Amino acid sequence: MRVHVALSPSEFADAPVSGRTVLAVDVLRATSAAVAACEAGCRRVVPVPDEAAAEALRDGAGVVLAGERGGHPIPGFDLGNSPDEFTRARVEGRTVVLTTTNGTAAMMRATTGAAAALAALTNLTAAAGWARDQGRDVTILCAGDNGAFSLEDAVCAGLLVARLTDGVPAAELSGGAEAARALGLHYAGRLPRLAADSSWARRLAHQAREVDLAACLRQDVSAMVPVFAAGGFAVTRPGRAGLAAGAPARDQAGSGA
Ligand code: MLT
Repeated sequence: MRVHVALSPSEFADAPVSGRTVLAVDVLRATSAAVAACEAGCRRVVPVPDEAAAEALRDGAGVVLAGERGGHPIPGFDLGNSPDEFTRARVEGRTVVLTTTNGTAAMMRATTGAAAALAALTNLTAAAGWARDQGRDVTILCAGDNGAFSLEDAVCAGLLVARLTDGVPAAELSGGAEAARALGLHYAGRLPRLAADSSWARRLAHQAREVDLAACLRQDVSAMVPVFAAGGFAVTRPGRAGLAAGAPARDQAGSGA
């Protein structure tokens, strides 16, 4: 298995996705919000590039428009991008149409792979297990911060790499995957530190979104993976084999995050 991590969107164009399993990562907050929406029973999450594309999909009570720009909710939309907003009462049985500053671009790019899913710290083990079960090479796309690197996405990608390749001596890591893995292992067991170390986390804190930071920097609170099919990401719960394959390994020591 070959594993590549695109550490920022500037690397997406050259990142190998064709024929691969692709995971999109936006810890703060788009993929964490999508996991929360799926946990709350939404039908699927449909990423779109902008507000006009979202408005075009507005369709009565069956569709919820969600997203942000610069961290702030979009005027006229039903929900912002805080995981806590995606409650059962608001999204159960509904399609969530999502547009965010960085995350939805990574999600859409992921859908050009042979299989695509959303990963966050909150569903780390499940996402890695699902990706490993696909039996292909894997590419992880970090949504980043306005086109640039973001620490929390690289850490999440690195922890995914660690799980994907644990016990796979023949795994081949790209330079991006090696770097992410080292960062991930550095933060394993101390994920809450990202609230201080990540520049986007600090900006979200200035918007009084500490609750979101706490929600997004938790590990493995969901065993569910939003997997792309028929135009949207919908709930998949990997079987026991997938979870075992991606089970917490060396990087788990002391993790209470
Ligand atoms: C993004 O897509 O840029 C992020 O999810 C922004 C946010 O924290 O809402």
